[in-house]
Amino acid sequence: MLSDVEKILVTEEELREINKRLGAQITEDYKGKKLLVLGILKGCVFFMTDLVRNIDLPLSIDFMTVSSYGSGTESTGRVKITKDVDIDIKDYDVLIVEDILDSGKTLNYVSDILRTRGARSIKIATLLDKPERRVAPITPDYVGCDVPDEFVVGYGLDYDQKYRNLPYIGQLRRSVYEK
Ligand code: IMP
Ligand code: MG
Repeated sequence: MLSDVEKILVTEEELREINKRLGAQITEDYKGKKLLVLGILKGCVFFMTDLVRNIDLPLSIDFMTVSSYGSGTESTGRVKITKDVDIDIKDYDVLIVEDILDSGKTLNYVSDILRTRGARSIKIATLLDKPERRVAPITPDYVGCDVPDEFVVGYGLDYDQKYRNLPYIGQLRRSVYEK
């Protein structure tokens, strides 16, 4: 375990189980639909690539990059699309894939935009959820697991663009960001 990690919250084995469980549920729910799995970069990468390989349906994938965070640990509330989707999402059943739902401000903004573009349906799959931190009116449809109100990294999640490559989800030591 990396020394900047206080403790491991979700192991590699648990991540595999989460992907299997959510993949099976999504396969059931999206039968006969025109599924577009839309990942929010960069945090979604490992979760999304593992998740879609557990979905036994024809589907399309696309990505969006939005920035709401600087290098700190709190959402700024300002959300900007820095890379948009390539596909015209009209008539697609869009499943947004996010690494972690915190205040909900980011996904609230993204889903509003996708709605105005004529998506047939919009649902949210998030690997991690910090429900007690929510301020925007957003409820995820698929959740890997809840995590405590601590800063977490790994399996796509970063602090200041680092730690994304950890194969597990770890709680970051406060001394790393409280300087
Ligand atoms: P929200 O708009 O506050 O829901 O912020 C969601 C985004 O903030 C996520 O997509 C993450 O990129 C980032 N974020 C929130 N909490 C954490 C965390 O504990 N670790 C890493 N990134 C986080
Ligand atoms: Mg993110």
